[in-house]
Amino acid sequence: MTGRSMIELIGIEKRYHSFQALADLNLTLQEGEFFSLLGPSGCGKTTALRIIAGFLEPTAGIVRIAGQDMQGVPANRRPTNMVFQSYAIFPHLNVGDNVGFGLSRSGLSRRQRKARIEEALAMVALEGFEDRHADALSGGQRQRVALARALVMQPKVLLLDEPLSALDKKLRESMQFELRRLQQSVGINFVMVTHDQYEAMTMSDRIGVMFDGRLAQVDTPTQLYAFPANRKVAAFIGGMNFLPAQLVGEPAGRLEVMVAGLGGLDIARNQGVARHDRELVVGLRPEQLHISRDEPAGFDARAQGTVTDAAFYGETVHYHVEIAGVPEPVVVSVPNHFHTVDFKRGDRVWIAAQGASVIDLGARTDN
Ligand SMILES: Nc1ncnc2c1ncn2[C@@H]1O[C@H](COP(=O)(O)OP(=O)(O)OP(=O)(O)O)[C@@H](O)[C@H]1O
Ligand SMILES: [Mg+2]
Repeated sequence: MTGRSMIELIGIEKRYHSFQALADLNLTLQEGEFFSLLGPSGCGKTTALRIIAGFLEPTAGIVRIAGQDMQGVPANRRPTNMVFQSYAIFPHLNVGDNVGFGLSRSGLSRRQRKARIEEALAMVALEGFEDRHADALSGGQRQRVALARALVMQPKVLLLDEPLSALDKKLRESMQFELRRLQQSVGINFVMVTHDQYEAMTMSDRIGVMFDGRLAQVDTPTQLYAFPANRKVAAFIGGMNFLPAQLVGEPAGRLEVMVAGLGGLDIARNQGVARHDRELVVGLRPEQLHISRDEPAGFDARAQGTVTDAAFYGETVHYHVEIAGVPEPVVVSVPNHFHTVDFKRGDRVWIAAQGASVIDLGARTDN
């Protein structure tokens, strides 16, 4: 990334009659950045992408790309290319003609076009598919053709709306790495829309988390995971136990809290959280809790409880533990290293937490 801004969204708003699809969207994307918009269905992700692409006019606000105001600039004159959520490709054309479609008026020779098409197909692992008919492709292959068709245009900004949603898990994971590598090697901006948190986290430099037409938080994946700005973001990204707590002291940059059922903890103050009342909520990731049969030593807080459920996921096992004074069973995930842990429903266990692993989520009434 160069530190120059490539896309600026300033006060973007979109209304469909009385329905507000986007509200006060402000976002600056750096040149060369891989950015993802992450959020549940209907939160406005596609709407935001279409506004950047120029397929949709915002009700209010300014879109700038590479420093230029895009008002009145049609989609085909913007330095962007979009891969649509429905990955529409032309069913009557073969793969090569689909991918080369946008090049037909580029002034390139037949040979140059052929080379560009081959290059784009290689990027999406579809070498040799030029002559294949579009309706003789699987859903995942069609999605990759749509991707190649956008890549072949070498846009400054590639807008991707759920580009990998039709792929099976294995192909999806390998395409995630491929796309990331591709983006880094060509150095263009990618703005990707997804509702899959893992996809967003593995691929992006930064993520914007959206709910109900608003950006709730914009941050790097590691910051989002470690310091979600509110309860909604915390619940959307990764697993999280929400525990009621009481604020007992505020030493510099830290909070002393009394967590229901677990006891006293000294935790880092989360810069993203605005307000603290005496009654607050803290978050504990399932993988950051310790579970054992015997009382553990060396932890700040611990409690004894009863296993109510055990779910085997292969690489991890999740235990639900009921603890006196905690409203919901606490979820603990344990890596399935050497089959050293194997608790059953009804087992009495200890769970323990360290101050460093607890996330401050602010006042109980905020979110
Ligand atoms: N043309 C339209 N007229 C009225 N409402 C619309 C129109 N297009 C979208 N909406 C509404 O705007 C909201 C945002 O839609 P959008 O397509 O941006 O969601 P999304 O985040 O992409 O969801 P998904 O993950 O399901 O694709 C939705 O509630 C949708 O119903
Ligand atoms: Mg969408």
